[in-house]
Amino acid sequence: MQRREFLLSGLALIAAPRVSLAASATIGILPDEPIGTIAPTIYGHFIEHLGGCIYDGIWVGEKSKIPNYNGIRKELVDKLKLLKPPVIRWPGGCFADSYNWRDGVGPRDRRPRRTNFWANTPYLEKAPDGPQKYEPNEFGTNEFATFCKLVGAEPYFASNLRSLTPLDFYQWVEYCNSPAGTTSLAELRAQGGTRDPFKVRYWGVGNESWGCGGNFTGDEYAVEFRRFSEWIPKFDVELALIASGPNVADYAWTRTFLSKLTEKSKGPLRNLFGLALHYYCGGASKNKSTEFTEQQWYTLLSDAGYMQELIQNHWQLMGEIDTEHKLKLVVDEWGAWYETDPSIDPSYLWAYFPTLRDALVSGITLDIFNNNAEKVGMANAAQLVNNIHTSFLARGDRFTVTPTYHAFRMYAAHQGGTAVRTIFDAPSLQQGSNRRLSALSGSCSLHGKHAVLTVVNPHIQNAQDTAITIRGSRASDFRATVLTASDIHTHNTFDQPHALEPTEKSVPSASPFVYSFPPASVTRLEFDLA
Ligand code: AHR
Repeated sequence: MQRREFLLSGLALIAAPRVSLAASATIGILPDEPIGTIAPTIYGHFIEHLGGCIYDGIWVGEKSKIPNYNGIRKELVDKLKLLKPPVIRWPGGCFADSYNWRDGVGPRDRRPRRTNFWANTPYLEKAPDGPQKYEPNEFGTNEFATFCKLVGAEPYFASNLRSLTPLDFYQWVEYCNSPAGTTSLAELRAQGGTRDPFKVRYWGVGNESWGCGGNFTGDEYAVEFRRFSEWIPKFDVELALIASGPNVADYAWTRTFLSKLTEKSKGPLRNLFGLALHYYCGGASKNKSTEFTEQQWYTLLSDAGYMQELIQNHWQLMGEIDTEHKLKLVVDEWGAWYETDPSIDPSYLWAYFPTLRDALVSGITLDIFNNNAEKVGMANAAQLVNNIHTSFLARGDRFTVTPTYHAFRMYAAHQGGTAVRTIFDAPSLQQGSNRRLSALSGSCSLHGKHAVLTVVNPHIQNAQDTAITIRGSRASDFRATVLTASDIHTHNTFDQPHALEPTEKSVPSASPFVYSFPPASVTRLEFDLA
């Protein structure tokens, strides 16, 4: 909504005293206009057998000197729990369509060593041989399920559609979900240490089937999807299948896949929980995470804002076939992607030091998910540790959380709340062609009488003095958590793990309530409604 329209329609309706603005911006919260419940699964993560994500990042082995729970890095588990991770996707990514789940079950010392999907990419040419090139299969289905249990997340498996059969998929479900003692695969699971079924609900049917997952057309993939999903053992678990969806703005994929899928009947939509959308910003291997100009800061944040348009457009197309909008978007890979930091071992492909800029990318993206709560059923930041949009960096006994982690921790407070329409109005940023970058953006969720408002101010120099009004309510007991730094390149390293951390601020209640959002910041305001 434009500033003028907002002043005419929105603010006039808000039952707060008239605001005499020393403020240059306004935020109008409309509690009586719910968007939907924010699925906690929007705050999901993704881990792949890629670079240092699994080996060293998560799996250090039971005999390691690095403190661990059953071979899983202890510090990672302890810190990840604080994010309340609802769901974790595994084993890929592109790796998934080269992975045979049978290699990763049974006695660990007898598991085969295989060539990792990524081993032959030019990126790893100069890397030494190691688990990143030759997959030792020490971390398999049981270890992943243990990791999920330790951190309180639900597992989300990506199955292999390109190089295995529907029977293999069927039997992986059987391995995970058949009740104790009922099948040979349940017995194999028990030999691996877990007698009771994992009760896995979320299953991806392939990954990026338009590319590394088979190079199919939308039509071809729809036929494969029907073959893989037509008859899967359910046991007592309601399976939620996720179809490989579009790459960024490939609207033809969404249209052709759904048309072909439903050409005989709408039956195949029944088991389908979501359509996966993948979108990365950052320029992948062309840019550095820690070196960028002011213009590149704005361009990247603007690119992060493109997520809104992608969600809106794919959702509209989905509705042409799934007219009741039962099917949700599952953004199961997103984040800012740069080149591997030269100071990091090259086998730790796409490991680098996220900065304050990446915290803002996280905030902008998570706010978009909240504001589309009725459309987005799940999202998974790519990836959790040592890779791309990472929340953690680990190397041997060294470990740090990143600015991305802090944004996730601040935003966890939204999980399960009701997203309500919130109108942001601020003077334009005047950043040339970066039209997708709002001068102030955010989202608000209600949890009974408790409200959580998150706000991103991307301006590098200017604070935004903002009048905040809540239609029909008064607010009290404001608390603020702020993540910012005077240098936009600030990041945490193993030597300086606390270089960037949020600060808590008590905020005097005032009426009207005017808050100054610092330059280059992510802020969480919490307050109670009368
Ligand atoms: O997350 C890294 C890779 O990006 C994934 O393996 C693939 O699905 C995507 O192209």
